[in-house]
Amino acid sequence: MRCYQILGRVKDYQKTKMGFVFQLEREVVELFILTHDLIRVRMSRTGKFASDRSWAVIKEHWTPVSFEEDLQGDSLAVILPGLIIRINLDVFQISVYRKDSLINHNMELSFRDHAVRCSMDLPDDAKIYGCGEKIGFLNRRGRRLEMWTTDAVPHLPNTDPMYQSIPFFLMMTNKSVIGVFFDNSFRTFFDFGKEVQDKLSFWAEDGELNYYLFTGSDVESILRRYSELTGNMPMPPKWSLGLQQSRYSYYPEKHVREVAAEFRRRDIPCDVIYLDIHYMDGYRVFTWDPKRFPEPKRLLADLADEGFKPIPIIDPGVKIDQDYTVYQEGLAGDYFCRTRSGQYFKGEVWPGEVYFPDFLKASTRRWWGEHDADLIAEGAAGIWNDMNEPSNFLGAIDKDVIHGEDGKEISHGQAHNLYGLEMARATYEGLRRRFPDHRPFILTRSGYAGIQRYAAVWLGDNSSWWEHLAMAVPMLLNMSLSGVSYVGVDVGGFCDDCVPELFARWIAMGCFTPFFRIHSAIDTVDQEPWSFGTEVEEIARFYIKKRYELLPYIYDCFYEASFNGLPVMRPLWMEYLQDTRTHEIDDAYLFGPAFYVAPISRPGSDFRALYLPEGTWYDYWSDKIYEGPQFVVAEAPLSTIPLFVRGGSIIPSEPCMNYVGEKTPDRLIYDIYPATDSEYLHYEDDGSTNRYEAGEYCTTKVSCQKENSSLLIKIGKRIGDYQPQKRSLLLRIHSCQVEMVALDGRELVMVSSLKDLDGVEEGWVNCDNILAVRIMDSDTAKEVSVLGGRKGSS
Ligand code: GLC
Repeated sequence: MRCYQILGRVKDYQKTKMGFVFQLEREVVELFILTHDLIRVRMSRTGKFASDRSWAVIKEHWTPVSFEEDLQGDSLAVILPGLIIRINLDVFQISVYRKDSLINHNMELSFRDHAVRCSMDLPDDAKIYGCGEKIGFLNRRGRRLEMWTTDAVPHLPNTDPMYQSIPFFLMMTNKSVIGVFFDNSFRTFFDFGKEVQDKLSFWAEDGELNYYLFTGSDVESILRRYSELTGNMPMPPKWSLGLQQSRYSYYPEKHVREVAAEFRRRDIPCDVIYLDIHYMDGYRVFTWDPKRFPEPKRLLADLADEGFKPIPIIDPGVKIDQDYTVYQEGLAGDYFCRTRSGQYFKGEVWPGEVYFPDFLKASTRRWWGEHDADLIAEGAAGIWNDMNEPSNFLGAIDKDVIHGEDGKEISHGQAHNLYGLEMARATYEGLRRRFPDHRPFILTRSGYAGIQRYAAVWLGDNSSWWEHLAMAVPMLLNMSLSGVSYVGVDVGGFCDDCVPELFARWIAMGCFTPFFRIHSAIDTVDQEPWSFGTEVEEIARFYIKKRYELLPYIYDCFYEASFNGLPVMRPLWMEYLQDTRTHEIDDAYLFGPAFYVAPISRPGSDFRALYLPEGTWYDYWSDKIYEGPQFVVAEAPLSTIPLFVRGGSIIPSEPCMNYVGEKTPDRLIYDIYPATDSEYLHYEDDGSTNRYEAGEYCTTKVSCQKENSSLLIKIGKRIGDYQPQKRSLLLRIHSCQVEMVALDGRELVMVSSLKDLDGVEEGWVNCDNILAVRIMDSDTAKEVSVLGGRKGSS
């Protein structure tokens, strides 16, 4: 095997507006200082750069930042506030320091044949996270991973690559975190100390060495920057955060109606019902089977009347069939992928022989997006994009397939990882074009960096295995750390038959994941919430209702994700970086800022051990208080998922409904868990249009402060253009004993029960260790003072 050739001596260099250009023997390296915490490195082996194209990056122009240069012998230092980049001009190498501490050492660029590579030191204490959708534990150290979007089933411990290719990772040492985004869509590899224990490297089969180094001082600022670079997730429609029910496939239409009716009959909330491939006529996309679904419009309208949002699946492969309009249009518009010699590339998927649309072409995306929009016009509420790696039953797509506009073609080698991203883009743009005010919902299986701009992602065909329930946590966390917050797995497992105990455990966990969908494969046992007997149905109903109550909180988490790039699902270490014990915890996680979720992922377990980091923790079910750090053995009978709330949390919720928008909620509840002084921002908008983009939303700051023996709860002035409906506010202050409650200095009346509290406009009652205070909501600031204190902890 020929070794990679590293870069030698810098012959000359120039300072530019954005950084430096280094001339070497033949190669040129450009260093861009995009911000004080974001650097980009580009290498050309020929002395000339190809045109600067990225499908992931949306922010191309950055305001130049000032920096100093200091040349000492062969060492050039680039000095920024808080950051020093040292370039060794003898053997081209880059090292980065934050203040005095080295955060990235000996970055070395190299090449071999068409391949390009970068390697750097991997410190002993370094752990690796991110890299999108990968099987395995949270920390990727010691592994080699490949990015080549693949229909990968079954999911085994060594299955790789997977459906998504997101070449972004975080390296965390005990002192610092950095992020690296290798924006090269060819087949890429990442070696995190597998080949050489103390080296990290990444390389691509072809294309340019082009990567970004994020040096922000914490993971939050790195993720925020990454989202700025590759795009924020738009706010999802609120209904899409409810329960979604799917099966491969519900048909004929009578069966779809029955499943939908069963949810309502059994008092189990649900918003979405999916139509998998059997709704189509011979799996021809954008058609309906005339026998199974004779009146699609009517079905979709009837489902909508019951509060269901139907979502049909769409696969990319277009059946080769002379009598099929979509196929004819594809030929006429020249929308399908061709090989270099001009032949259409033929593949095989569900409908038999197919051509694949070339989503790298704007004209194809437009055409496809119009068909997606037609489905919405018929009454579908969103679009589910599947098989978009693209999956081909005949094997890999030929490398000599080319993509993109004439004159700007790229090889399949470069386009492969982008296919799912561009299909999602076609869908998203089609929906936004036709329905500018309608907030799209798109679900995708495949994607590349930036996929968060268009779609939610589910992690493909898992199995109804306990191992896959356990594996969902690190997989979802690493996706969340790769810029994709709206993510979930098939609850209950897709392949194989689920069993009652597994389903009960999975639904409890699914309720605390961003995308909450039950889905199951053809020929497996039924997998609806009522399919596993009354005990499990009861558990499922309870957790699904819990999810609906918590929707205001979950929506706030999405606001943070959408506006600030912060993941909804977070590893514990994100909040407890200094506590190294948290660094590899991947059987528990944080769901938003408040919840610590510790799923049960083994059969027959009615307890589990877990680690609570520093601070006050409330057991969500009993309000028992724990002071961390400590190890706890949590009781977990089948009906209970161990769940804790961080002390200081403020959690908004509302009364449960059968589906989002069924009624206008008459109250907003804030559960307050006093500990240290704390603050929370509650976000609201209409939940379904795009008006929030023009500022039609509002936020309310809620805080809880301790003052001697009293608590002061401030509900700030509502800020912004959105006006919620008239409602009351119910504050539930946990573990609290009181003698007196006042609103803006005026004493409130104590009532004798929770029921009585419902009947008054203002009042309070102490009940089961919780102080409940009811007041009317308004857009002005209010102060509730509570005389009394917090109870003790264990
Ligand atoms: C793929 C999808 C799965 C879907 C099936 C049939 O396997 O991953 O979710 O049900 O195709 O469309």
